Amino acid sequence: MRYLTFALTKGRLASKTLDMLEKLGITCDEMKDKNSRKLIFTNEELGLRFFLAKGPDVPTYVEYGAADIGVVGKDTIIEEGRKVHEVLDLGFGKCRMCVCGHEETAEKLQHHELIRVATKYPNIAKDYFYNKKHQTVEIIKLNGSIELAPIVGLSEVIVDIVETGSTLKENGLVVLEEVCPLSARMIVNPVSMRMENDRIKELITNLRNLLREE
Ligand code: PRP
Repeated sequence: MRYLTFALTKGRLASKTLDMLEKLGITCDEMKDKNSRKLIFTNEELGLRFFLAKGPDVPTYVEYGAADIGVVGKDTIIEEGRKVHEVLDLGFGKCRMCVCGHEETAEKLQHHELIRVATKYPNIAKDYFYNKKHQTVEIIKLNGSIELAPIVGLSEVIVDIVETGSTLKENGLVVLEEVCPLSARMIVNPVSMRMENDRIKELITNLRNLLREE
């Protein structure tokens, strides 16, 4: 039997994915050792391999077939635009992509003033402002702590993930517009989907049933 390889997003999404798989009897004890520096983990019995990667790299591994299956946030799937099949909404990691800023900025947004938008997601921001809102903006790519940008005057607004809203609140910012809802998704390499159809379909069906029961 050929190994089915999973690329999981390092951190909370991977833990939640492993919890879900465990409920289906798919375990990988090797992965639970937090001190291990191993990068790839195997379940010989089931013919499965798992590795952890940074979110934006997960769709890359899956597009090239280095992983058959990936678990990653919808934000990353949209931003990366890789050729992968999105097969299942796993229901966890729920949050929203939003345009945020100081309350006073709402007016500038409405009047389509030329504003600066800081974001870790330039493609999502471009699509939203250029294609959906037909608004010209200047997009500035940042790599984290995006909420700083409007506070220190780098940009008028940000396009970023809002989960509980506490980062915004603690920094005197608000949601001005919602771009789209997000959650963790399962993605599959298109060739793997054909070659390993039975095994992958069975996994999707089992996960779907599990999600229905919850
Ligand atoms: C994310 C996101 C927001 C925050 C939202 O950042 O970019 O900053 O979480 O969560 P909340 O609404 O529950 O406060 P993350 O912690 O991933 O780090 P980053 O800022 O370095 O991207």
